[in-house]
Amino acid sequence: QLLLAIVAAGSPSLSTTDESVIGIAWTNLKVDIKDRTILKVYPGEAKPGRLLGILGPSGSGKTTLLNCLAQSVPKVKRQEIYGNVALSDGSKPKLTEGQVAYLSQEDSFFGSLTVKETLKVAATLQAPNATEKDREKTIDYLLDTLSLTHVKNSQIGSAKKRGISGGERRRLSLARELLGNPKILIADEPTTGLDSYQAQHVVRLLKRVAVQKNIPVTVTLHQPRSSVWNMLDDVLILTPNGKPAYHGTKDGALKYFSRLGYRCPVFMNPSEYLIDIVSADLENPSKKIEGLHRIETLEKEFAKFSKKQRKSTIPAETSLRKKNVDILAAPEKEKTPWASDKPLAKNSLIYVNPHKQNPLFSRISSSFGRIGCLFRRAITQNCRDWSVLATRVLAYGGLAKVYTSVLRANCPADSVGSLPDKICLLTFGTISMAQLSLIKSLMLFATERSTVERERARGQYSALEYVISKLVAELPVDTFFGLLYAYVLHANSEFNMPRGKFLSVFALLSGLGTTLGLAVGAAVPSGEAALVTGPVLMVVFTALGIINPSGARPPASGDSENSGKNPKDSQTEAERKKKDKKMYSPTGLATCPVILRPFKLCSPIKWGIEAILCSEFRSLKLKRDLREAPRMGALALVSSGDMALEALGLGDQTTGNCLNAMGRILVGQIAFSVAAMSATRPKFADLGTQFLNETRELEKWELESAKHKLSM
Ligand SMILES: Nc1ncnc2c1ncn2[C@@H]1O[C@H](COP(=O)(O)OP(=O)(O)O)[C@@H](O)[C@H]1O
Ligand SMILES: [Mg+2]
Repeated sequence: QLLLAIVAAGSPSLSTTDESVIGIAWTNLKVDIKDRTILKVYPGEAKPGRLLGILGPSGSGKTTLLNCLAQSVPKVKRQEIYGNVALSDGSKPKLTEGQVAYLSQEDSFFGSLTVKETLKVAATLQAPNATEKDREKTIDYLLDTLSLTHVKNSQIGSAKKRGISGGERRRLSLARELLGNPKILIADEPTTGLDSYQAQHVVRLLKRVAVQKNIPVTVTLHQPRSSVWNMLDDVLILTPNGKPAYHGTKDGALKYFSRLGYRCPVFMNPSEYLIDIVSADLENPSKKIEGLHRIETLEKEFAKFSKKQRKSTIPAETSLRKKNVDILAAPEKEKTPWASDKPLAKNSLIYVNPHKQNPLFSRISSSFGRIGCLFRRAITQNCRDWSVLATRVLAYGGLAKVYTSVLRANCPADSVGSLPDKICLLTFGTISMAQLSLIKSLMLFATERSTVERERARGQYSALEYVISKLVAELPVDTFFGLLYAYVLHANSEFNMPRGKFLSVFALLSGLGTTLGLAVGAAVPSGEAALVTGPVLMVVFTALGIINPSGARPPASGDSENSGKNPKDSQTEAERKKKDKKMYSPTGLATCPVILRPFKLCSPIKWGIEAILCSEFRSLKLKRDLREAPRMGALALVSSGDMALEALGLGDQTTGNCLNAMGRILVGQIAFSVAAMSATRPKFADLGTQFLNETRELEKWELESAKHKLSM
């Protein structure tokens, strides 16, 4: 019996008998977060061909309800969801299968792309197997029907750069959602931030989608204007407690509330009136009590009404359903202003879930298709804005020129006096290179993050595909700037090392900065957090990686080219080295706490500095100059590059070793980015594992309010 009850409670059923018409239904739905109920609604449905408006004050659970319908409630700690949602064909609505078109409250786009390019990327990601011609046809058709043709070649723009208007952005979002063939469409506050005309235009389009595609369209509206209210077919009104005060036809709403004694004044916007009666004035103590009592009464009245309604067949329901069937039979006869001559049901692309494709060949070929598409998008986003590129050229070249002018970079390479300036220049140069690439990578990732999350929630590509395309697009550009910076540094200084070697160390450093940015961006939960974490991590890497020249070990008296030939000498030499290691540690490895050692070994700054110093000083003959001693301390006493390296604690270090370590860190950071992105993929809570016993809930509720009355 219990099993039967669970099965009965757990399978939401639609009253529609027509198989081809798909609606969405839900059982009792309840969402608790940290023991607070944020949503609790009774069994209901969104009917095909109709526009359902979910109305309620802010915080009443509208977005939560939409997330339940799309089975995309974000997983959070201490969250419990009761109830289930199903389409009338028995399947579960899923974002990842292209069944749900979900227009979220915030539009997220790549601002440098044009309207048409955005749709092209979306079409390729959704339907990698469709032909180019089919995609083009679908896109042109949607641009036309959603009145976007005149802006198809305009850049979308961003918060910092003007682009298309707010209404056009919303319509572009809608076009992107309609590329596939969704079975339901839901939109979270699609009119917020739009002027009256644009808001009406967007809702009219949503209504057209409902009628012509004959699918249920559900929208949340904070406070719709009367023109928007008039376009709704059904409404669900939520109270601030997340409970319904009404769910049914729009026309029935006013009748229902006037029966309860709340009659909407003739010249008032009905939606405004209804939202007012389900809201409480929390500022005014006396009004607050009255408001909370009114809300509780309305919730209870509707609980009873809803139960009765589900027990009997309501005449209004039947006529409503008849109307649906009529719409289905002859949609073109609909003489409403939103029904245009071009039906929206045509020209949809078939959505392909990349994770469910079977034959290996088609998986690989569509994977390449997606990487290519993401690559083109990343290149466009990175390189379209010439003013940004020109500023970057000036900034990188200028910074290198500043360093070489401030430090005595043009001292002859073989003079001891050049050592401190060279060490300083190379250290600063290395740190800045990694820092610049890191910041750029973090900023870029922060701007595209929301779009990428939207696409990943729909399962449109894997973390590996994204990382590959991003690196293939960005690394060459960043390397170019790294090389430019290094070229200016080298050209304005007297270095011993060949230019090629110098440039390659900097190219590698720039790559390390970029991949570190990607790794941090992938691992932390938001773009803002990444912008804070990344530079802090780089400062730690810098602190652990720099060489402190004042810690340089003075060469012992035996230090010269022929030292160490006598075995006795070498024994004393080894002892001395051991002792010195404790006293002088310019690289800081000996004094670094054990817990920080792994960070030190992963520091791109450490290996970068060591690589460049080894390349510059190894086997270099220096002219000793004791006049420099007061300024340079121990370093004035060296007579060769090798001795200088020894003094800096890099006696055994080689350039090859450092480049090897840098290569390994690069690969490690890329692998970490892929792993972190896979781990942080948007995760949704499961619906349909727990159910509420409605009768028992209602009884419990009545008992509680009776107790409450007694205590008053
Ligand atoms: N992750 C969460 N943790 C805690 N409270 C949440 C969380 N998500 C939503 N809420 C709360 O649930 C309530 C309903 O939220 P929401 O569905 O976004 O409302 P609406 O869309 O109607 O403004 C709000 O009071 C909000 O503070
Ligand atoms: Mg909301």
